[in-house]
Amino acid sequence: MAQEVRGVIAPGKNEPVRLETILVPDPGPGEAVVKIQACGVCHTDLHYKQGGINDDFPFLLGHEAAGVVESVGAGVTDVAPGDFVVLNWRAVCGACRACLRGRPQYCFDTHNARQKMTLKDGTELSPALGIGAFADKTLVAAGQCTKVDPAVSPAVAGLLGCGVMAGIGAALNTGQVGRGDAVAVIGCGGVGDAAVVGARLAGASKIIAVDIDDGKLTTALSMGATHTVNSRTADPVEAIRDLTGGFGADVVIEAVGRPETYKQAFYARDLAGTVVLVGVPTPEMTLELPLLDVFGRGGALKSSWYGDCLPSRDFPMLIDLHLQGRIDLAAFVTETIGIEDVESAFARMHAGDVLRSVVTL
Ligand code: APR
Ligand code: ZN
Ligand code: ZN
Repeated sequence: MAQEVRGVIAPGKNEPVRLETILVPDPGPGEAVVKIQACGVCHTDLHYKQGGINDDFPFLLGHEAAGVVESVGAGVTDVAPGDFVVLNWRAVCGACRACLRGRPQYCFDTHNARQKMTLKDGTELSPALGIGAFADKTLVAAGQCTKVDPAVSPAVAGLLGCGVMAGIGAALNTGQVGRGDAVAVIGCGGVGDAAVVGARLAGASKIIAVDIDDGKLTTALSMGATHTVNSRTADPVEAIRDLTGGFGADVVIEAVGRPETYKQAFYARDLAGTVVLVGVPTPEMTLELPLLDVFGRGGALKSSWYGDCLPSRDFPMLIDLHLQGRIDLAAFVTETIGIEDVESAFARMHAGDVLRSVVTL
């Protein structure tokens, strides 16, 4: 029988979100119901509310979540009731052309629950990124649940479900930062700071944080940056070259998602260096570059989706490193809030005041 729980709904374009009773069906084959313990507030939730992703209102928001599996449907063997899990939006299919070639981190056919959660009147909900976790419970595909060490706080663990994993993975997986590398990170919000943490973990010898806000640069230093550049007052390309013997960084991570910062990243790298774009551009943005510079500088221009993560490989590993004190994921939790506070958290996020607000349940 479907259960009635509370969930945060975006009812229509730019309308304030509201708490509603939602119906969560019992899990069908391959599905799981997860009791949510914590869920971070992400820019993508705001984009859904603003109609910037698609028009499939009403949305059930929330997707950076951790909780405990309550029940599973037929055929589910990887997780069981009682397991502490982080939810992911990359439940790999095992059968698409990426999976078959041994590259499941690029799975092109990731799946979600087949049944729909609804409002009490039967209106079907569109769960954000196939998750919908600003709710007491949510229904997902079992493959969206990754077991991790339950010793970690749920508010910390859930952040691996999106932005923090995107940033750490941009450095570790996409950028392949190595020991002794010089790394620059342009844009030090939650994603850029996570890239700083990833670069530090990988053994980068220099980590140059670039932002237009001195407060963000101070935070980046606390996350492991070794140098900072305020690109309002200094040319970031010149500054990064000056800090790297005149050559540029081995890996430059762009965590803003704008053409001008991408160009900075492009020119701030050493010959044969790597640019990683993890910031998400908007549809109207275009980029113009001399093709000879693209050729002449060699190296790699890469985009990073979800930090090219493989949840089953990366989530437990990063939680273990956090529990051992080798990375500090708790530093990304600026505040914990109630489920009724999502709308006000959007305002604080918009003002740039927080790395992450996390709803705890
Ligand atoms: N140059 C340098 N830094 C900039 C610039 C710029 N021109 N413009 C903005 N920034 C900085 C902001 O000051 C802020 O610190 O970029 C940072 C962006 O951080 P957030 O807004 O907190 O965004 P975050 O959650 O880190 O995500 C960054 O990645 O996943 C995507 O959609 C997300 O595109 C966004 C990006
Ligand atoms: Zn696949
Ligand atoms: Zn997100």
